[in-house]
Order: sequence, then C-alpha cells, then structure tokens
Amino acid sequence: MQIIRTPQELQKTCLPWRFSGLSTALVPTMGFFHAGHESLMRYARAHAEKCIVSLFVNPSQFGPGEDLAAYPRDFERDARIAESLGMDVLFAPEPGAMYAEDHAAWIEVPELAGTLCGLSRPTHFRGVCTVVAKLFMLALPQTAYFGEKDWQQLAILKRMVRDLNIPVRVEGLPIVREADGLAMSSRNAYLSPEERAMAPALFAGLRRAAEIAAEGEKDSVRLVEAVRAYWAEHLPCGREEYLMVVDPESLADKALVDGPALMAAAVRLGKARLIDNIVLRP
Ligand code: PAF
Repeated sequence: MQIIRTPQELQKTCLPWRFSGLSTALVPTMGFFHAGHESLMRYARAHAEKCIVSLFVNPSQFGPGEDLAAYPRDFERDARIAESLGMDVLFAPEPGAMYAEDHAAWIEVPELAGTLCGLSRPTHFRGVCTVVAKLFMLALPQTAYFGEKDWQQLAILKRMVRDLNIPVRVEGLPIVREADGLAMSSRNAYLSPEERAMAPALFAGLRRAAEIAAEGEKDSVRLVEAVRAYWAEHLPCGREEYLMVVDPESLADKALVDGPALMAAAVRLGKARLIDNIVLRP
C-alpha cells in the first residue's frame, strides 16, 4: 500500500487510473477506523480495481467549540488496517496541505443542510462538501462509499454530484452496529462505561417507532412521542438535540409516514454526540 501525503501526488497517481479505464473507488474517512469503515473498504475492494482510502480530520467541518483537537486519532493502527484490507493508497495529508491559507472557495447545498444536524452545526456541511469535492478532484474515483449513519451527509453529497455534474457515483452502505445495536462511530470512544451501557437505547427507541409505523401508525408526532417515552425510561441521561421524521431524499419534514420516511436523531450523552437513523415503512 502506498501512503500519500500531498494532494499533488494523489492526483498524479490516481488520474491516470481513471483515464486508462480502470475502475477506482474512494472511501473518504477521518480515521480511527472501526467495523463501519472496514465494511466500506471491504466493499470497495470487492468492487473496484484500484482502492483509495483517505484519512483526514477535516478542520473546516468542525465548528467553534467542537471536538477537532480531541477527535480520536491512531494513524499506525489505521494504516495497518487499510493495508490488511488491500487498499492500494492511503491518502493522509497534513491539514496545511489541503487548504491554502487564503482558501476561499466553498460548496454549499443549503436546501438540505439547514435541517437535522445542520440546525446545531450550521457550517458543518459546507466543510464536508468542500473537502469531499476536493478529494473527488484529486482521486477522481468512479465510485465513493459512505456510511448511511450520516444519512444527511450522504443525501447532500448525492445532490452535490448531481447538481455539479461531478463524474463520481456516491453510494451509501448500511450502518454497521455493535451486537447491542449501537451504531459504530469513532465518537463512541468518548462514552464512559455507564453511558456506553445506556447508549443502545438510542437505536432501540428508533426501532420501536419503526415497529409502530409498520403496525399502521402514520402520524409523525405520535411516532416521535413514542420514541421520547422510550428514551425517558431507558436513556435518562441523554439530551435530545433533534428527533425528526423527514423525506429520505429531500430531507423535508414529513408529517405523515405515507411512504418510506427517515426518522433521524442526534442525542448528547456525556461528552459524545451520537447520531442514528432508521427508515420507517408504513
Ligand atoms: O463522514 C466522515 O467521516 C467525514 O464527514 C468525511 C466524509 C470523511 C469528510 O471529511
């Protein structure tokens, strides 16, 4: 596996692959790999001739007071995992290499970025879109893989490539969970043992809503109330940031679950901010 540290070298390595007709896949990450990242890399390996994994804790997607400095990092372990999963390239640039001091170009998709996580992280998705667009220009993969845990990110990136005609297919892969249901996340490392024991209740509450919806409840307000009642009992230390039912593509609020709908949540538990989602089907 080749470890590449500069954008110029990545472009020099990857553009000829794409232009020569090789199938190439990119897995963009911020590192501290868990089974969710591993599933993306395995899927990429099985579907492309050349696989690139990027590891970059992107400063522009963290707001003031967020966990940029504390974000967990373990480069040596990540490099071993990427190599063992057969990645051809690990791209791990220094922050200074990705953004010029006077960087001034940003990509925004405000229609989809103003809801859910965007309510409390108003500049987050412009940082994500901009860094992902830069990674796309550098690696020019045919396909890029993202986890469905960050559903809003996925919806926004799909819209970005569609609206800007970026020749990359953005694909989402299912959330990988711990045996007790907690969605894998690098930020789970922030949970104390007591918080970790309680954290599966986040998804258990969403699953409860999916069951009630499948039994015929269409009213989003009632579905949200059912989850809140479940959390009040099983996740008493959690502080809800949002719990919403939205259209899976446009992310517009949905008052009625009259077709597939996304129920998405963010909950603060101790130092961790956990997000999760489930598709409700009537
Ligand atoms: O999902 C992530 O880890 C990040 O938002 C991404 C897509 C790697 C961009 O920095």
